[in-house]
Amino acid sequence: MKPVGVGSSSLSLRLAFAVSFTLSFSLSTSSLSEPKPKPKPITIPFSSHSHSSRSLSPAQSFASDLLSLLATPSNRAPPIPSNEAQQLSSCLKFLVPFSPDKDAYSYSWRRAILEEFRGDKEERENEMVWWPPEPVMELARLAIDSGGDPAAIQRALDPTVLPVPDVDRINEDQCELTRTPYGRRFANEVINSYLAFLFELIVTRGPSIGLNLSLSRYDLFHGHIFVATETGRLGILFHAREYPAFDKEDFPYYLGHCQSGSNVSYDESMNLRNILWLAPLPSNTTKAWLAPGVLVVLDAHPDGIIYQRLVPDYVDIVRTVYEDDFGLLVADVNYLNIDSVASAKRIFIC
Ligand SMILES: *[C@@H]1O[C@H](CO)[C@@H](O)[C@H](O)[C@H]1NC(C)=O
Ligand SMILES: *[C@@H]1O[C@H](CO)[C@@H](O)[C@H](O)[C@H]1NC(C)=O
Ligand SMILES: *[C@@H]1O[C@H](CO)[C@@H](O)[C@H](O)[C@H]1NC(C)=O
Repeated sequence: MKPVGVGSSSLSLRLAFAVSFTLSFSLSTSSLSEPKPKPKPITIPFSSHSHSSRSLSPAQSFASDLLSLLATPSNRAPPIPSNEAQQLSSCLKFLVPFSPDKDAYSYSWRRAILEEFRGDKEERENEMVWWPPEPVMELARLAIDSGGDPAAIQRALDPTVLPVPDVDRINEDQCELTRTPYGRRFANEVINSYLAFLFELIVTRGPSIGLNLSLSRYDLFHGHIFVATETGRLGILFHAREYPAFDKEDFPYYLGHCQSGSNVSYDESMNLRNILWLAPLPSNTTKAWLAPGVLVVLDAHPDGIIYQRLVPDYVDIVRTVYEDDFGLLVADVNYLNIDSVASAKRIFIC
Protein backbone atom coordinates (compact mmCIF):
# COMPACT_ATOMS: atom_id res chain seq x y z
CA MET A 1 0.00 0.00 0.00
CA LYS A 2 1.20 3.44 -0.89
CA PRO A 3 1.63 5.81 2.03
CA VAL A 4 -0.88 8.65 2.10
CA GLY A 5 0.84 11.89 1.23
CA VAL A 6 3.01 10.56 -1.54
CA GLY A 7 0.12 10.65 -3.96
CA SER A 8 0.02 13.23 -6.59
CA SER A 9 -3.25 14.82 -7.43
CA SER A 10 -4.40 17.23 -4.82
CA LEU A 11 -7.93 16.33 -5.78
CA SER A 12 -7.78 12.61 -5.81
CA LEU A 13 -5.55 12.84 -2.82
CA ARG A 14 -8.12 14.84 -0.95
CA LEU A 15 -10.65 12.26 -1.92
CA ALA A 16 -8.23 9.63 -0.70
CA PHE A 17 -7.58 11.45 2.54
CA ALA A 18 -11.21 11.95 3.09
CA VAL A 19 -12.17 8.41 2.51
CA SER A 20 -9.34 6.86 4.45
CA PHE A 21 -9.63 9.18 7.40
CA THR A 22 -13.35 9.58 7.76
CA LEU A 23 -13.42 5.87 8.42
CA SER A 24 -11.55 6.32 11.67
CA PHE A 25 -11.44 9.98 12.61
CA SER A 26 -14.47 11.49 11.00
CA LEU A 27 -12.48 14.47 9.92
CA SER A 28 -14.13 17.88 9.93
CA THR A 29 -14.90 19.29 6.55
CA SER A 30 -12.81 22.43 7.00
CA SER A 31 -9.60 20.51 7.54
CA LEU A 32 -10.06 18.63 4.29
CA SER A 33 -9.41 21.60 2.11
CA GLU A 34 -6.05 22.38 3.69
CA PRO A 35 -3.20 22.01 3.78
CA LYS A 36 -3.17 21.40 0.07
CA PRO A 37 -0.59 18.92 -1.02
CA LYS A 38 2.17 20.72 -2.86
CA PRO A 39 2.83 19.88 -6.48
CA LYS A 40 5.35 17.10 -6.62
CA PRO A 41 8.92 18.29 -7.05
CA ILE A 42 10.38 17.43 -10.39
CA THR A 43 12.41 14.32 -9.89
CA ILE A 44 15.40 13.39 -11.94
CA PRO A 45 14.20 12.14 -15.30
CA PHE A 46 15.09 8.70 -16.48
CA SER A 47 17.93 8.35 -18.90
CA SER A 48 19.22 5.42 -20.84
CA HIS A 49 21.90 5.06 -18.15
CA SER A 50 19.63 4.92 -15.15
CA HIS A 51 17.07 2.88 -17.03
CA SER A 52 18.20 -0.55 -15.91
CA SER A 53 18.97 0.43 -12.34
CA ARG A 54 15.64 2.12 -11.64
CA SER A 55 13.62 0.09 -9.24
CA LEU A 56 9.89 0.13 -9.69
CA SER A 57 7.20 -0.55 -7.13
CA PRO A 58 4.87 -3.46 -7.97
CA ALA A 59 2.18 -1.01 -9.09
CA GLN A 60 4.64 0.92 -11.26
CA SER A 61 5.91 -2.20 -12.87
CA PHE A 62 2.34 -3.32 -13.55
CA ALA A 63 1.50 0.09 -15.04
CA SER A 64 4.54 -0.25 -17.23
CA ASP A 65 3.27 -3.63 -18.41
CA LEU A 66 -0.04 -2.02 -19.27
CA LEU A 67 1.74 0.63 -21.33
CA SER A 68 3.76 -1.98 -23.20
CA LEU A 69 0.59 -3.91 -23.96
CA LEU A 70 -0.84 -0.70 -25.43
CA ALA A 71 2.21 -0.27 -27.65
CA THR A 72 2.42 -3.80 -29.06
CA PRO A 73 1.53 -4.42 -32.71
CA SER A 74 -1.08 -7.12 -33.21
CA ASN A 75 1.34 -9.57 -34.85
CA ARG A 76 3.57 -9.66 -31.79
CA ALA A 77 3.11 -11.06 -28.30
CA PRO A 78 3.31 -8.30 -25.70
CA PRO A 79 6.48 -8.52 -23.57
CA ILE A 80 4.51 -9.38 -20.45
CA PRO A 81 3.21 -12.65 -18.96
CA SER A 82 0.38 -13.93 -21.14
CA ASN A 83 -2.11 -14.53 -18.33
CA GLU A 84 -1.51 -10.97 -17.18
CA ALA A 85 -2.07 -9.70 -20.71
CA GLN A 86 -5.29 -11.63 -20.91
CA GLN A 87 -6.63 -10.37 -17.60
CA LEU A 88 -5.57 -6.85 -18.47
CA SER A 89 -7.30 -6.94 -21.82
CA SER A 90 -10.54 -7.91 -20.15
CA CYS A 91 -10.35 -4.68 -18.10
CA LEU A 92 -9.71 -2.34 -21.02
CA LYS A 93 -12.72 -0.54 -22.45
CA PHE A 94 -11.62 1.38 -25.49
CA LEU A 95 -13.34 4.66 -26.29
CA VAL A 96 -11.55 4.70 -29.61
CA PRO A 97 -10.87 1.33 -31.27
CA PHE A 98 -7.44 -0.02 -30.33
CA SER A 99 -5.52 -0.06 -33.58
CA PRO A 100 -1.86 -0.66 -32.81
CA ASP A 101 -1.07 -1.34 -36.46
CA LYS A 102 -2.14 2.01 -37.86
CA ASP A 103 1.12 3.43 -39.05
CA ALA A 104 2.23 6.97 -39.38
CA TYR A 105 2.45 6.65 -43.15
CA SER A 106 -1.27 6.09 -43.33
CA TYR A 107 -1.45 9.11 -41.06
CA SER A 108 -0.19 11.62 -43.54
CA TRP A 109 -2.28 10.53 -46.49
CA ARG A 110 -5.33 9.90 -44.35
CA ARG A 111 -4.99 13.37 -42.92
CA ALA A 112 -4.79 14.77 -46.43
CA ILE A 113 -7.88 12.86 -47.48
CA LEU A 114 -9.77 13.84 -44.37
CA GLU A 115 -8.96 17.46 -44.86
CA GLU A 116 -10.19 17.28 -48.39
CA PHE A 117 -13.35 15.30 -47.86
CA ARG A 118 -13.98 15.84 -44.16
CA GLY A 119 -14.93 12.20 -43.79
CA ASP A 120 -17.29 10.73 -41.29
CA LYS A 121 -17.27 12.43 -37.87
CA GLU A 122 -16.63 9.31 -35.86
CA GLU A 123 -13.77 8.22 -38.09
CA ARG A 124 -12.24 11.68 -37.91
CA GLU A 125 -12.36 11.60 -34.12
CA ASN A 126 -10.69 8.20 -34.12
CA GLU A 127 -7.95 9.54 -36.37
CA MET A 128 -7.45 12.48 -34.03
CA VAL A 129 -6.64 10.02 -31.25
CA TRP A 130 -4.53 7.62 -33.34
CA TRP A 131 -2.55 10.39 -35.01
CA PRO A 132 -3.12 13.79 -33.39
CA PRO A 133 -2.40 17.15 -35.00
CA GLU A 134 1.24 18.01 -35.58
CA PRO A 135 1.85 20.18 -32.46
CA VAL A 136 0.65 17.32 -30.23
CA MET A 137 2.90 14.90 -32.12
CA GLU A 138 5.80 17.29 -31.54
CA LEU A 139 5.06 17.34 -27.83
CA ALA A 140 5.05 13.54 -27.75
CA ARG A 141 8.39 13.56 -29.56
CA LEU A 142 9.77 16.15 -27.15
CA ALA A 143 8.88 13.94 -24.20
CA ILE A 144 11.03 11.15 -25.61
CA ASP A 145 13.85 13.32 -26.94
CA SER A 146 14.24 14.99 -23.55
CA GLY A 147 14.70 11.58 -21.96
CA GLY A 148 11.28 11.68 -20.31
CA ASP A 149 11.82 15.06 -18.66
CA PRO A 150 8.56 16.68 -17.46
CA ALA A 151 10.23 20.10 -17.53
CA ALA A 152 10.59 19.84 -21.29
CA ILE A 153 6.79 19.66 -21.57
CA GLN A 154 6.30 22.39 -18.98
CA ARG A 155 8.45 24.69 -21.09
CA ALA A 156 5.88 24.43 -23.87
CA LEU A 157 3.44 26.37 -21.67
CA ASP A 158 2.79 30.04 -22.20
CA PRO A 159 4.07 31.96 -19.14
CA THR A 160 0.83 33.97 -18.84
CA VAL A 161 -0.87 33.18 -15.56
CA LEU A 162 -4.66 32.91 -15.68
CA PRO A 163 -6.84 33.01 -12.59
CA VAL A 164 -9.08 29.96 -12.25
CA PRO A 165 -12.61 31.17 -13.03
CA ASP A 166 -15.62 30.69 -10.82
CA VAL A 167 -17.35 27.78 -12.45
CA ASP A 168 -20.33 25.75 -11.17
CA ARG A 169 -20.49 28.01 -8.02
CA ILE A 170 -17.11 26.91 -6.70
CA ASN A 171 -16.43 30.27 -5.05
CA GLU A 172 -19.75 30.31 -3.29
CA ASP A 173 -18.97 26.87 -1.89
CA GLN A 174 -15.36 27.81 -1.06
CA CYS A 175 -14.28 24.91 -3.19
CA GLU A 176 -10.65 25.00 -4.29
CA LEU A 177 -11.07 22.81 -7.27
CA THR A 178 -7.63 22.99 -8.83
CA ARG A 179 -4.13 22.36 -7.52
CA THR A 180 -3.37 26.09 -7.72
CA PRO A 181 -5.72 29.11 -7.94
CA TYR A 182 -4.22 30.03 -11.30
CA GLY A 183 -3.42 28.07 -14.41
CA ARG A 184 -1.65 28.36 -17.74
CA ARG A 185 -2.14 27.14 -21.27
CA PHE A 186 0.11 25.72 -23.92
CA ALA A 187 1.66 28.38 -26.10
CA ASN A 188 0.39 26.51 -29.12
CA GLU A 189 -3.41 26.87 -29.31
CA VAL A 190 -3.77 23.61 -31.20
CA ILE A 191 -2.61 21.72 -28.12
CA ASN A 192 -5.21 23.42 -25.90
CA SER A 193 -7.97 22.65 -28.39
CA TYR A 194 -6.78 19.09 -28.55
CA LEU A 195 -6.93 18.70 -24.77
CA ALA A 196 -10.47 20.09 -24.77
CA PHE A 197 -11.32 17.69 -27.58
CA LEU A 198 -10.17 14.75 -25.43
CA PHE A 199 -12.42 15.77 -22.51
CA GLU A 200 -15.38 16.21 -24.84
CA LEU A 201 -14.71 12.95 -26.64
CA ILE A 202 -14.61 11.02 -23.37
CA VAL A 203 -18.06 12.39 -22.57
CA THR A 204 -19.54 11.67 -26.01
CA ARG A 205 -18.05 8.17 -26.26
CA GLY A 206 -18.57 7.19 -22.59
CA PRO A 207 -22.15 5.90 -23.05
CA SER A 208 -20.84 3.31 -25.55
CA ILE A 209 -19.28 1.47 -22.59
CA GLY A 210 -21.98 2.34 -20.07
CA LEU A 211 -20.38 5.49 -18.68
CA ASN A 212 -22.50 8.63 -18.57
CA LEU A 213 -20.35 11.59 -17.58
CA SER A 214 -20.70 15.32 -17.47
CA LEU A 215 -18.07 18.03 -17.69
CA SER A 216 -18.78 19.41 -14.26
CA ARG A 217 -16.88 20.17 -11.07
CA TYR A 218 -18.20 16.98 -9.47
CA ASP A 219 -17.48 14.69 -12.35
CA LEU A 220 -14.99 15.01 -15.21
CA PHE A 221 -12.93 18.19 -15.01
CA HIS A 222 -9.34 17.06 -14.65
CA GLY A 223 -6.57 14.76 -15.71
CA HIS A 224 -2.89 14.38 -14.86
CA ILE A 225 -0.34 14.78 -17.63
CA PHE A 226 2.63 12.43 -17.21
CA VAL A 227 5.65 11.14 -19.04
CA ALA A 228 5.91 7.38 -18.65
CA THR A 229 8.68 6.03 -16.49
CA GLU A 230 10.12 3.38 -18.77
CA THR A 231 9.59 4.86 -22.19
CA GLY A 232 9.04 8.60 -21.85
CA ARG A 233 5.66 8.22 -23.57
CA LEU A 234 3.36 11.18 -23.01
CA GLY A 235 0.01 10.42 -21.42
CA ILE A 236 -2.89 11.74 -19.38
CA LEU A 237 -4.74 9.92 -16.64
CA PHE A 238 -8.22 11.44 -16.37
CA HIS A 239 -10.29 11.07 -13.22
CA ALA A 240 -14.05 11.31 -13.59
CA ARG A 241 -16.61 11.00 -10.78
CA GLU A 242 -14.38 13.08 -8.52
CA TYR A 243 -16.91 14.20 -5.92
CA PRO A 244 -19.75 11.75 -5.44
CA ALA A 245 -22.60 13.02 -3.29
CA PHE A 246 -22.75 12.09 0.36
CA ASP A 247 -25.24 9.30 0.85
CA LYS A 248 -26.01 7.69 4.19
CA GLU A 249 -26.20 4.23 2.65
CA ASP A 250 -24.00 4.17 -0.41
CA PHE A 251 -21.35 6.79 0.19
CA PRO A 252 -21.19 8.00 3.80
CA TYR A 253 -18.11 10.19 3.31
CA TYR A 254 -17.63 13.92 3.55
CA LEU A 255 -15.18 15.20 0.98
CA GLY A 256 -15.21 18.85 1.93
CA HIS A 257 -16.47 21.97 0.22
CA CYS A 258 -16.13 20.73 -3.34
CA GLN A 259 -18.65 17.98 -2.66
CA SER A 260 -21.42 20.44 -1.72
CA GLY A 261 -24.38 20.09 -4.02
CA SER A 262 -22.95 17.11 -5.86
CA ASN A 263 -25.30 15.38 -8.29
CA VAL A 264 -22.91 12.47 -8.92
CA SER A 265 -24.17 9.30 -7.34
CA TYR A 266 -21.88 6.59 -6.07
CA ASP A 267 -22.63 3.54 -8.18
CA GLU A 268 -21.13 0.99 -10.55
CA SER A 269 -19.81 3.75 -12.77
CA MET A 270 -17.10 4.48 -10.16
CA ASN A 271 -15.35 1.41 -11.58
CA LEU A 272 -14.85 3.33 -14.79
CA ARG A 273 -13.54 6.62 -13.43
CA ASN A 274 -9.92 6.20 -14.55
CA ILE A 275 -9.46 7.04 -18.21
CA LEU A 276 -6.12 6.83 -19.96
CA TRP A 277 -4.95 8.73 -23.02
CA LEU A 278 -1.60 7.94 -24.57
CA ALA A 279 0.04 10.01 -27.25
CA PRO A 280 1.54 8.13 -30.18
CA LEU A 281 4.85 6.53 -29.23
CA PRO A 282 7.90 7.86 -31.07
CA SER A 283 10.99 5.77 -31.59
CA ASN A 284 13.86 6.95 -29.41
CA THR A 285 16.44 6.30 -32.11
CA THR A 286 14.78 7.26 -35.39
CA LYS A 287 12.10 9.67 -36.55
CA ALA A 288 9.65 6.79 -36.84
CA TRP A 289 6.49 6.27 -34.82
CA LEU A 290 6.11 2.94 -33.03
CA ALA A 291 2.48 3.09 -31.95
CA PRO A 292 -0.58 5.28 -32.49
CA GLY A 293 -2.46 7.06 -29.72
CA VAL A 294 -4.90 5.32 -27.38
CA LEU A 295 -8.00 6.36 -25.42
CA VAL A 296 -9.20 3.73 -22.98
CA VAL A 297 -11.16 3.35 -19.77
CA LEU A 298 -9.41 1.23 -17.14
CA ASP A 299 -12.15 -0.88 -15.63
CA ALA A 300 -11.41 -1.14 -11.91
CA HIS A 301 -14.21 -3.49 -10.90
CA PRO A 302 -13.13 -5.34 -7.74
CA ASP A 303 -12.71 -8.74 -9.41
CA GLY A 304 -10.37 -7.42 -12.04
CA ILE A 305 -6.60 -7.09 -12.25
CA ILE A 306 -6.61 -3.27 -12.49
CA TYR A 307 -8.32 -3.01 -9.12
CA GLN A 308 -6.07 -5.63 -7.65
CA ARG A 309 -2.78 -4.22 -8.93
CA LEU A 310 -3.28 -0.49 -9.38
CA VAL A 311 -5.85 0.71 -6.84
CA PRO A 312 -4.21 1.24 -3.42
CA ASP A 313 -6.11 -0.19 -0.43
CA TYR A 314 -6.84 3.19 1.11
CA VAL A 315 -8.76 4.37 -1.95
CA ASP A 316 -10.38 1.11 -2.92
CA ILE A 317 -13.82 2.59 -2.22
CA VAL A 318 -13.29 5.24 -4.85
CA ARG A 319 -11.20 3.09 -7.21
CA THR A 320 -8.49 5.68 -7.76
CA VAL A 321 -5.57 4.75 -9.99
CA TYR A 322 -2.59 7.08 -9.55
CA GLU A 323 -0.68 8.79 -12.31
CA ASP A 324 2.62 8.42 -10.48
CA ASP A 325 2.42 4.70 -11.12
CA PHE A 326 2.58 5.53 -14.83
CA GLY A 327 5.32 8.10 -14.79
CA LEU A 328 6.46 11.54 -13.73
CA LEU A 329 3.82 14.21 -13.36
CA VAL A 330 4.02 17.15 -15.77
CA ALA A 331 0.96 19.07 -14.55
CA ASP A 332 -2.78 18.75 -14.08
CA VAL A 333 -5.04 19.62 -16.96
CA ASN A 334 -8.43 21.06 -16.01
CA TYR A 335 -11.48 21.57 -18.19
CA LEU A 336 -13.56 24.26 -16.55
CA ASN A 337 -16.90 24.33 -18.24
CA ILE A 338 -17.45 28.07 -18.54
CA ASP A 339 -20.23 29.26 -20.83
CA SER A 340 -19.81 30.89 -24.17
CA VAL A 341 -16.10 30.55 -24.73
CA ALA A 342 -14.25 28.38 -27.22
CA SER A 343 -13.35 24.95 -25.83
CA ALA A 344 -9.64 25.73 -25.79
CA LYS A 345 -10.32 28.56 -23.35
CA ARG A 346 -11.75 26.09 -20.86
CA ILE A 347 -8.35 24.50 -20.43
CA PHE A 348 -6.30 25.43 -17.36
CA ILE A 349 -3.00 23.72 -16.75
CA CYS A 350 -2.19 23.80 -13.04
C1 LIG B 1 14.97 3.26 -26.35
O1 LIG B 1 13.82 2.60 -25.91
C2 LIG B 1 14.02 1.24 -25.63
C3 LIG B 1 12.66 0.62 -25.35
O2 LIG B 1 11.85 1.47 -24.60
C4 LIG B 1 15.00 1.09 -24.47
O3 LIG B 1 15.21 -0.25 -24.16
C5 LIG B 1 16.30 1.79 -24.84
O4 LIG B 1 17.16 1.78 -23.73
C6 LIG B 1 16.05 3.22 -25.28
N1 LIG B 1 17.28 3.78 -25.80
C7 LIG B 1 17.73 4.99 -25.45
C8 LIG B 1 18.96 5.47 -26.14
O5 LIG B 1 17.17 5.68 -24.61
C1 LIG C 1 -26.91 6.78 -19.73
O1 LIG C 1 -27.83 7.74 -20.19
C2 LIG C 1 -28.74 7.22 -21.16
C3 LIG C 1 -29.57 8.37 -21.71
O2 LIG C 1 -29.97 9.24 -20.71
C4 LIG C 1 -29.61 6.13 -20.50
O3 LIG C 1 -30.49 5.60 -21.45
C5 LIG C 1 -28.68 5.04 -19.99
O4 LIG C 1 -29.43 4.07 -19.29
C6 LIG C 1 -27.61 5.61 -19.06
N1 LIG C 1 -26.67 4.56 -18.76
C7 LIG C 1 -26.23 4.33 -17.54
C8 LIG C 1 -25.27 3.20 -17.39
O5 LIG C 1 -26.57 4.99 -16.57
C1 LIG D 1 -25.21 17.37 -12.90
O1 LIG D 1 -25.05 18.75 -13.10
C2 LIG D 1 -24.38 19.11 -14.28
C3 LIG D 1 -24.23 20.60 -14.30
O2 LIG D 1 -23.75 21.08 -13.13
C4 LIG D 1 -25.18 18.63 -15.49
O3 LIG D 1 -24.48 18.95 -16.66
C5 LIG D 1 -25.36 17.14 -15.37
O4 LIG D 1 -26.18 16.69 -16.42
C6 LIG D 1 -25.98 16.75 -14.05
N1 LIG D 1 -25.94 15.31 -13.95
C7 LIG D 1 -26.93 14.60 -13.48
C8 LIG D 1 -26.73 13.14 -13.39
O5 LIG D 1 -27.98 15.13 -13.13
